[in-house]
Amino acid sequence: MKETTFEEQTKLIAGLAGIAPGGRPDRRMRTNLVHGHAEEDPVTGAMNVPVYLSSTFTHPSLDGSTGYYYSRVGNPTRLELEDTVAMLEGGVKAWAMSSGMTAISTLLKLFKPGDRIVASDDLYGGTYRLFSDIYGRYGLTFDYVDLTDWERAEPLIAGAAAVFFETPTNPMMHVVDIRRVAQAAHDAGALVVVDNTFLTPYLQRPFEFGADVVIHSGTKYLCGHNDVTAGFLVLREPDLIEQVFNYAMSEGGFLSPTDCYLLLRSIKTLSVRMDRQQDNAAAIARWLKGNPHVTDVYYAGDPDSAGYELMRRQASGFGAMISLRVDDEERVRTTLERIRVISYAESLGSVESLMTFPFVQTHGAVPLELRRSLGIDERLLRLSVGIEDAQDLIDDLAQALA
Ligand SMILES: Cc1ncc(COP(=O)(O)O)c(C=O)c1O
Repeated sequence: MKETTFEEQTKLIAGLAGIAPGGRPDRRMRTNLVHGHAEEDPVTGAMNVPVYLSSTFTHPSLDGSTGYYYSRVGNPTRLELEDTVAMLEGGVKAWAMSSGMTAISTLLKLFKPGDRIVASDDLYGGTYRLFSDIYGRYGLTFDYVDLTDWERAEPLIAGAAAVFFETPTNPMMHVVDIRRVAQAAHDAGALVVVDNTFLTPYLQRPFEFGADVVIHSGTKYLCGHNDVTAGFLVLREPDLIEQVFNYAMSEGGFLSPTDCYLLLRSIKTLSVRMDRQQDNAAAIARWLKGNPHVTDVYYAGDPDSAGYELMRRQASGFGAMISLRVDDEERVRTTLERIRVISYAESLGSVESLMTFPFVQTHGAVPLELRRSLGIDERLLRLSVGIEDAQDLIDDLAQALA
């Protein structure tokens, strides 16, 4: 049986929908979020591209094909989701993977033993574990640095194979200058990889500032309902796409058609969710700054924060993530045990507000010394603000922190 190529896949759906891969420049972001890439099922006209629960696809003749062969290689529901995310990010190709970590792991297959990757030191703890504990054993090396400290960061980028970062960073909300990192990385021949989980393409599109790869934990805002674990790997360079296509299709860590459908449905409401989450976050951050039990508030939308102006230049919103430091360790316990509207749970980005204790949860895999030096300590809490009534969230925090 003839193997499908990346071009054949994209031509099929893009051709049927009359859309060039890469986007719909005639429409604005909120419209693209609602209508997706194909707009409707190209075959039947159904408003929603159906869940194609088929692992394999029949061929009309020995040489003929519908363009689909086998779902590890390509599935119509998944392709609509992938094309939608690629379009939103301004990329050319996206892969919908079973988790954010699978997306990052698939990308890391591009590198060879001896390659060195510069990563932001403030990074989701699972990414740190994947880098150092797993890929470190396969000969990749990682330098962790504060990418907002340019004196220290710039010399490390020379000779690196890639630079990997989140912005704002998790959980300390540092804002990294994507354009500046991209210029230095490209001068050094290194790839620029941005984990855009915190802001989504609705608020920040790293390709516009020179990124080569965009990563998402789709589990977070893109899903938004705490019901699917998903990840995305988005690219725009044809050579890179061919290489990753080979790894991704050979391994098959993809999202199931049912989960792809749920993600497509979620993405339709991303702008309204995000708008409300951001408004709530701004109100809560303001309130937290005046609370006597809170010593520090880390929020990218705080006009007094170091990254505020940069954030305004490279993003169209501030997101809905806040970290806060309380005045003593015991208050972490009482706060987490007393919150009622907000849930004490890992993850972020959903319609429900979640509070996390990064020191032991999301960042437990980061070495203790590094955690402490970053400010991820026994008094730090992270809040993912949902779409509930802001006053109920503030009332809940007030009684829990008291
Ligand atoms: C910024 C960021 N990137 C990647 C991941 C990993 O994504 P997943 O949990 O979907 O594997 C997470 C998870 O919390 C995250 O916060």
